[in-house]
Amino acid sequence: MAARIIRKEVLIPGQTTKLVLDAPHVAAKAKPGNFVILRVHGKGERVPLTIADADPQQGTITLVYLVLGKSTWLLNQLEEGQELNDLCGPLGRPTHIEPGPEPVVCVGGGTGIAAMHHIAKGFSRAGHEVISVIGARAKDLLLFENELRTFSHDVMVATNDGSHGIKGFVTDALRDYLDAHKDVAEVVAVGPVPMMEAVANLTRPYGVKTTVSLNSIMIDGIGMCGACRVNVGGKIQFACVDGPEFDGHQVDFVELRERLSAYKPHELKSYQECGCSHG
Ligand SMILES: Cc1cc2nc3c(=O)[nH]c(=O)nc-3n(C[C@H](O)[C@H](O)[C@H](O)COP(=O)(O)OP(=O)(O)OC[C@H]3O[C@@H](n4cnc5c(N)ncnc54)[C@H](O)[C@@H]3O)c2cc1C
Ligand code: FES
Repeated sequence: MAARIIRKEVLIPGQTTKLVLDAPHVAAKAKPGNFVILRVHGKGERVPLTIADADPQQGTITLVYLVLGKSTWLLNQLEEGQELNDLCGPLGRPTHIEPGPEPVVCVGGGTGIAAMHHIAKGFSRAGHEVISVIGARAKDLLLFENELRTFSHDVMVATNDGSHGIKGFVTDALRDYLDAHKDVAEVVAVGPVPMMEAVANLTRPYGVKTTVSLNSIMIDGIGMCGACRVNVGGKIQFACVDGPEFDGHQVDFVELRERLSAYKPHELKSYQECGCSHG
């Protein structure tokens, strides 16, 4: 189904963009943790993107994407009023959210902060105290800090260069929080694979339930192609239909990293051949 771009906002010039799409059918069913697969044109690649927010009343969904390669570069060429060729979703299992007041720590890194935003909002709406921990290389690369402050009990910020919040990684802020609070019900992490792995390794000795949202390579998004295979607790799972969220303590991150890097040379070639450029 085609989807029109209602609003386009460059969040980080040359790098990260937010789109609000007119997609009433997706917005009506979208839950935290769901994603969509879109194609910019009829012969285009299928690009999975997490639903960063959804407004069923307005019939809109929000996507936030990093311009990485050919397809996200092409997506970034579209302007307000133009249409995507097709949009499929919501896909994946929604985040498992039980009602309750216990604190849930939602950790977001880089573009993953946008995906984490919808999940954190879901926990807040279910009555939980939400502590958002967000991190980026520097202050001007942080996303959604103000949006998260509207419903989070606390927002902890970590930047690698110390330009905002504490100097260090999200895991440094998370460690401080876990040392001071023993009542955390769950930690949810969304971001680069090494960050999610570091979060899972940190929380393991604390015995806190830890959920990660895996951005494995996806093609069909419906469990038929096998591209998004991940090893969780020694069992083969498909991130598109069994996930994308899994128990972080059970994920084989070594295998995941290897699978993600397998297509790097092809992606670079396709990016260079299309004449795309950042900025
Ligand atoms: C469930 C899910 C949710 C995602 N949500 C977001 C999001 O909200 N915002 C965002 O910026 N990115 C998100 N991604 C990653 C996004 O899909 C890729 O960045 C995008 O497909 C890159 O396409 P490209 O042609 O521009 O770059 P390419 O040159 O094709 O790839 C650049 C890098 O992107 C990754 N990638 C490429 N194709 C895929 C694919 N089909 N599936 C997963 N990763 C891929 C690879 O690591 C690759 O090295 C998500 C991925 C998944 C699986
Ligand atoms: S994307 Fe094809 S099986 Fe998951």
